[in-house]
Amino acid sequence: MNVKPRMTLHRLRQMHAQREPIAMLTCYDATFARVLDAAGVDVLLVGDSLGMVCQGRTDTLPVSMDAMVYHTGSVARGNRTAWVIADMPFGSYQGSLDDAIANAVRLMQAGAHMVKVEGGGWTVPLVRALVDRGIPVCAHLGFTPQSVYALGGYRVQAREDEAAQHLRADATALAEAGASMVVFELMPSTVARAVADDLPIPVIGIGAGSGLGGQVLVLHDMLNLTSGRLPRFVRDFTEGSADIKAAISRYVADVKAGRFPDDTLHGY
Ligand code: KIV
Repeated sequence: MNVKPRMTLHRLRQMHAQREPIAMLTCYDATFARVLDAAGVDVLLVGDSLGMVCQGRTDTLPVSMDAMVYHTGSVARGNRTAWVIADMPFGSYQGSLDDAIANAVRLMQAGAHMVKVEGGGWTVPLVRALVDRGIPVCAHLGFTPQSVYALGGYRVQAREDEAAQHLRADATALAEAGASMVVFELMPSTVARAVADDLPIPVIGIGAGSGLGGQVLVLHDMLNLTSGRLPRFVRDFTEGSADIKAAISRYVADVKAGRFPDDTLHGY
């Protein structure tokens, strides 16, 4: 019998060193955690996109710590072997360092293996403080949904040289502060790849093109369950069938083989 080993930080680092793409999907409940884990998804992201997906909101800003703890616990109970990342929601790390550490501890105690924080520059001391306390961190740069209003909507980031240099400086500083992984969202694939190639940690892309350390999508987008227009970079992995497990296996296989994403379909 082929037993899937438990994912560890060490194994994620090995995958990065061996250029094996990391397949990540968002996950919000125990049933999907079991299905995604069994289909070979490496990393389950309890994203604050649950604000839209589970709560019917228009953005992630109202998502509370209590909601994140609840969904992280649900995912952790359904999961067996995948790595679980929990988003720190808006307002849970923008205040004092003490509050941010206490909130990250709550997510780890709910069953997360790593927490994710959005933004660069000002997050560097926070990342260092969390890592020093034994809490692995995933950073998130480019389009950062918690800053949707400051960024002027869902817009491709780091298009201009100066912004691309800023991205490179932020990513490097976060890696030096101890972040073990970084999500790059909504940016030109050439920019994402150039920065990723020089980083010692895996870059997981969403709307950031191919050739990165891995890919992530919002589960309900790739299952074509999201109402309204989907971002251009999303692929409907159901291919018209009702077989959810097959769609998820197809996603894992296509990410691993470099068949997803398609660099001609970027932007929002
Ligand atoms: O919350 C989320 O789903 C995310 C992904 C967009 C990466 O952060």
